[in-house]
Amino acid sequence: MSKNIFKGSVVLNPVPVVLVTSKNKENMDNVFTVAWTGTVCTKPPMLSIAIKPERLSYEYIKETMEFTINLPTKRLTRETDYCGVRSGRDVDKIKEMGFTMKKGKEVCSSYIGECPVNIECRVKSIIPLGTHDLFLAEVLCSHIDERLMDENGKIHFEWGNLIAYSHGEYFPLPKTPIGKFGYSVAKKTLESKPAIAVKKKSEKKTVKNKNEKKKRKKVK
Ligand SMILES: Cc1cc2nc3c(=O)[nH]c(=O)nc-3n(C[C@H](O)[C@H](O)[C@H](O)COP(=O)(O)O)c2cc1C
Repeated sequence: MSKNIFKGSVVLNPVPVVLVTSKNKENMDNVFTVAWTGTVCTKPPMLSIAIKPERLSYEYIKETMEFTINLPTKRLTRETDYCGVRSGRDVDKIKEMGFTMKKGKEVCSSYIGECPVNIECRVKSIIPLGTHDLFLAEVLCSHIDERLMDENGKIHFEWGNLIAYSHGEYFPLPKTPIGKFGYSVAKKTLESKPAIAVKKKSEKKTVKNKNEKKKRKKVK
C-alpha cells in the first residue's frame, strides 16, 4: 500500500455531528452544529466539545456552564447543516428550523424534541487550545426515544437513522452491524458457526452413525 504524507490537519474521519443547545443568563436559547465532539471518560461519564470563541454558543455556554447534545437524524440533515452555517447573532435558528424545545431535566438548556437522543451536560473545565477551546463536561442525564429500546432495555442507536460527518459531507449510518464488541475473540457456539460448517459437522455425524450401524450389524 503506497501512502501520501499529510500534515497540518486532523484527518480523523468519520466523526459524529451533533446539535448543541444552550441558554444564556437571560434565558435565551441557541443551537449550533458541532463535529469536534467525543466521549472522554466512562466514570464519571464525560464528553468534550471544541468551540471557537467567536461563536454565540461559546458565550452562552460560558455564562451558564451547561449545554445539551442532540443527535440529529437523517431527516434533520438540512437543519444540522443550517445550524452550522448561520449564527444565532443573525437569525433565530430554533424558530427557523421549527424545533420543538423541551425543558431540560438537570440543566437550564432545553433539548430538541425531534432528536431521538439528548444528552444533558455540565461543563467541568475549559482548555484553550488555539483556534478552539475544549469544553470538558459531565453527562448528567440523557433522554432516549423509547422506540430505540428493545424489551430488554438495550438501546439500539442503529434504529435511530443517525448521521455521521466525514470530510465536509454528511452520511447516513447503516442499520446492520458487521461485528460486535469482542466477537473477534469470542468462543464460537454451534449457532454462531457458519451454516456450511455446521452442515458439514452434522453430515460427518450421519456418516459416523451409518458406519457404527454397519459395525453393529457386523457384530451381530
Ligand atoms: C458540520 C459542521 C460542524 C461544525 N463543527 C464545529 C465545531 O466542532 N466547533 C465549532 O466551534 N464550530 C463548528 N461548526 C461551526 C458552527 O456550527 C457555526 O459557526 C455556527 O454558525 C455557530 O453558531 P452560533 O454563532 O449561533 O453559536 C461546525 C459547522 C458545521 C456545518
